[in-house]
Amino acid sequence: MNRFSDFMLPPAKSTTAETTDALFHFINVTSLIFLVGITIAIIFFSWKYRRRSDEDVTPVISHNNKLEITWSVIPLILVMIVFGWGFTGYMNLITTPDDAYEVRVVAKSWLWEFHYETGFVSVNELHVPANRPVKLIMSSDDVIHSFFVPDYRVKRDVLPNRYTSLWFEVTEPGESIVYCTEYCGTAHSNMLATVFAHTQEDFDTWLETAGSADDDMDPVELGEQLVTRNACDTCHSTDGTRLQGPTFQGLWGSEREMQDGEIVVVDENYVRESILEPNARITKGYQPVMPSYAGTLNDRQIDAIIEYLKTLQ
Ligand code: CUA
Repeated sequence: MNRFSDFMLPPAKSTTAETTDALFHFINVTSLIFLVGITIAIIFFSWKYRRRSDEDVTPVISHNNKLEITWSVIPLILVMIVFGWGFTGYMNLITTPDDAYEVRVVAKSWLWEFHYETGFVSVNELHVPANRPVKLIMSSDDVIHSFFVPDYRVKRDVLPNRYTSLWFEVTEPGESIVYCTEYCGTAHSNMLATVFAHTQEDFDTWLETAGSADDDMDPVELGEQLVTRNACDTCHSTDGTRLQGPTFQGLWGSEREMQDGEIVVVDENYVRESILEPNARITKGYQPVMPSYAGTLNDRQIDAIIEYLKTLQ
């Protein structure tokens, strides 16, 4: 069964994945058996009762109690099995264990923000302890997104103006991919994140040092890292390519026309405003789709990004 499972599905890395997979295989295999059986029966009967001569007359059959009860009761039993199995699994998935480690998730077009108990925020990188239930409390800043980790077999919609939650327990340290599975705009397919599952010890160390690793980094180098770490590069290229937002190449110091005709010089204040209040002024030819980074990036980080932009001439 394991080989079959590996062929059909991504590796199962959470405590609930096996149950989900077992039900999935049960439904698939049962359906396959019925498909093959019914197809063979159709072909066989079409051949057996084919029209042989013009004198052939189809006999009148009104009903057959035995046959009708059989083909009603067998599917009923199968459906009840699937229902019971599915309902137990569903209850298990929506009931978070009490000792779960909580992480706050904020979805924005088009990135995932993860807020930890220490106040540290990571973008597109979720760090969790393995062998311990983790609860995600999720909401969206704009449209509907959906949080999906195929390896854990968990998925839940992330909505504006409402919290949804989801839990999982990773069985061993490793990495898995998070997908957004609700079409949320142009860069929906790039709205990816990685889950890093650590041992409890490694996780504690990571959480303790998270954020302070940047402290003595050179501003330009830090800025370059922040652009990737905060998913700025999902929409802004650094090589002149036009994506959802203007490219960073040659941006610094240039004059840009805004949607209302205003001409703006790209300087410190404009960049700062664009990061914290992206929709205050929109460059002509672009859509107001950028999420605010207020509360995500601090002043030092914004300064570093500015220093990095200066180098992209
Ligand atoms: Cu967010 Cu699709």
